[in-house]
Amino acid sequence: MLDVCEALPSTGVDATLDPADWTDTRALGHRMLDDMFDYLEHIRERPAWQPIPAEVRSEFRAALPAGPTGLAAVYREFTQLILPFSSGNAHPAFMGWVQGGGSVTGMLAEMLAGGLNANLGGRDHVPIEVERQIAEWARQMFGFPEGAAGLFVTGSSMANFMAVLIARTEALGPAVRQTGVTFPCKHLVAYTSCAAHGCISQAMDMSGLGSGMLRSIPTDDMHRIRISELRTAIRADRNAGLTPFLIVGTAGTVDIGAIDDLDGLSDLASEEGLWFHVDGACAALAVLAPDLAPLLKGIERADSIAFDFHKWAQVPYDAGFLLVRDGEKQLETFAAPAAYLRRESRGMAAGSPWPCDFGPDLSRGFRALKTWFTLKVYGTAQLGAVMSRTCELAQYLKLRVEQTPELELAAPVQLNFVCFRYRCENSDVVNARIVTDLQESGVAVPSTTMLEGRLAIRAAIVNHRTQRCDLDALIAAVVKLVMEIERNGHV
Ligand SMILES: Cc1ncc(COP(=O)(O)O)c(C=O)c1O
Repeated sequence: MLDVCEALPSTGVDATLDPADWTDTRALGHRMLDDMFDYLEHIRERPAWQPIPAEVRSEFRAALPAGPTGLAAVYREFTQLILPFSSGNAHPAFMGWVQGGGSVTGMLAEMLAGGLNANLGGRDHVPIEVERQIAEWARQMFGFPEGAAGLFVTGSSMANFMAVLIARTEALGPAVRQTGVTFPCKHLVAYTSCAAHGCISQAMDMSGLGSGMLRSIPTDDMHRIRISELRTAIRADRNAGLTPFLIVGTAGTVDIGAIDDLDGLSDLASEEGLWFHVDGACAALAVLAPDLAPLLKGIERADSIAFDFHKWAQVPYDAGFLLVRDGEKQLETFAAPAAYLRRESRGMAAGSPWPCDFGPDLSRGFRALKTWFTLKVYGTAQLGAVMSRTCELAQYLKLRVEQTPELELAAPVQLNFVCFRYRCENSDVVNARIVTDLQESGVAVPSTTMLEGRLAIRAAIVNHRTQRCDLDALIAAVVKLVMEIERNGHV
């Protein structure tokens, strides 16, 4: 009789993707690691960013590869086409948008996580305990009570979205998950400041509540929400028959790093019976810096906090986090039984509730590992010191701007953000051009923002590698561009 296996037709292809020659692959892997150490050790010698040449971009319009290419050849493409033209946020002179620099520790942890290929949606394995450990540490960082829950997500955009959903469930009851938001016939209204990040409005949109049901409350001259105007808006909405349900405070606005009066917001939220969420993408982790933590007073009273380990805490992208004061409310919003996800009291299906019960993702990577390594290797004191130092550097840059007659500050410097501009006619166009030229020069990468309707150059000093010399180089390059503009009489 024929053996069953012999009877099966062979595809003629090796079934496994493991290397045919482990020795060569190992050597190449070691070289990759060495190259990345070299890259990070000498990153200051490289341009902070460089424009992508057309021929490089065109390499990424290639046809879908049906056949194999050797790992060494693909790695060569990485070194020639990808590495030199990456976004540059690891570079000390990168100050654009709000981006962390990553770290060697985080990079190594990413490699280890890649090797394990753990899926953190659920089941009983230690990678999930690592994520639970981070949630417990986050609970301690923010002074939340036992029973709090936390979850890694892509970033604060997703964490804010989930917080809106949890606040919605709290306001309308868990049945809203079946009925949808229109059935209860309550028009929910949320409140945040006009300096809040656009993802809050997007979260209202995506939740089906509507971005039009988010009130944008004016701010004071430090860009903090005006609580008296918030109170008036809530009253007006109640009088109009609407249902206020959520206040979103900001800990570190995206423009200038302003921190709302979180204690005041928490008082108002409890008076009014509203969910109090803090968007702490930029600055919530300042709780780790003893000199900055007092600015966040009141954050410990929030119902939920969104924040990013990938910004000020320098964990490689992505590592956003949502912390919820009462974990049961998070479960009420997201947990959904499924036959194929049946739980047991032992075996690998034990350990319920699983991370997939706390959010919308089922398959989830091991973001917790790079965060665990980062917190353990550096400790919270060193990470907090990095945050304090970036604020000191911002004060230094502020001074340099004040000492440069052609420049003016465009906003108060409260944290690690410095907004300034070249004083001139047609200032929006000229300053936008200065920023683009700076980026293309590779000397420094600031970005722009609009403040009171006028464009400003914005330097967000988030990267742990940034030093005074990078800020001196930024000012020198701006002055050089300004002189060229003045000499030519136009942009
Ligand atoms: C205040 C604020 N909220 C939310 C976000 C969105 O965070 P993420 O990019 O991690 O989704 C940002 C991003 O910079 C931000 O500055």
